[in-house]
Amino acid sequence: MSLTPYLLEQESYASLRARREPNWLLVQALDLLEAQNGHALDVGAGPLNDTQCLLRAGLSVDAVDTDAHTVALAARVGDPRLRAHHADIRDVPIASEAYSLIVAIHVLPFLPRGDLDEVLTSIIGGLCDGGILCCTFLGTDDSWAGRRPHMTFLSRRQLDTLLLGLDRIVFSEHRYDGRNAKGEPKRWHVHRCICRKLGDRE
Ligand SMILES: C[S@@+](CC[C@H](N)C(=O)[O-])C[C@H]1O[C@@H](n2cnc3c(N)ncnc32)[C@H](O)[C@@H]1O
Repeated sequence: MSLTPYLLEQESYASLRARREPNWLLVQALDLLEAQNGHALDVGAGPLNDTQCLLRAGLSVDAVDTDAHTVALAARVGDPRLRAHHADIRDVPIASEAYSLIVAIHVLPFLPRGDLDEVLTSIIGGLCDGGILCCTFLGTDDSWAGRRPHMTFLSRRQLDTLLLGLDRIVFSEHRYDGRNAKGEPKRWHVHRCICRKLGDRE
């Protein structure tokens, strides 16, 4: 799969949003971790705000993004516990049961519907027993729905099916008028999820 040919000086989400606070959903997810010295995967890590929060919490992090800017930012972070991969998550083999926390915030909707199931299955397979998945999806009332055919917009019911077998800790739906990364007005419909992978005996 070809990577988006971002040049470092071009505007991208990573360049527009660097040096911000981590997502509040991730802060909530970190509170649920039993041990804070495990491995985390940040899918679509972008500006690395969440990745750096994971590092501060004591985890080692694999950060994956199609944007070359993310890898450049990672080099500036200079933490040996951070491995940044300039790659499409669809091309990245996720090691089985390798992660205690997988973060995929504001990235999964950018996958076409046909790829989402497979990526989500390998993400869930990458969680160890008791591991936490912290992710967001866009809903069908989002103003991009119907205008961006290569993206995925899900009803709560469809999402319910996709997350079957996981223990939902946060499973909430939000509709609000806000702005996109460039500051332009946008209607958002967001599903926020924190789930725990149950062990075989649970
Ligand atoms: C809206 S940004 C969110 C970034 C970060 N998770 C955050 O919340 O600040 C989406 C990011 O996902 C990346 N991305 C989009 N599709 C991807 C894919 N198939 N594989 C890996 N990264 C992808 C984009 O380059 C971008 O940095």
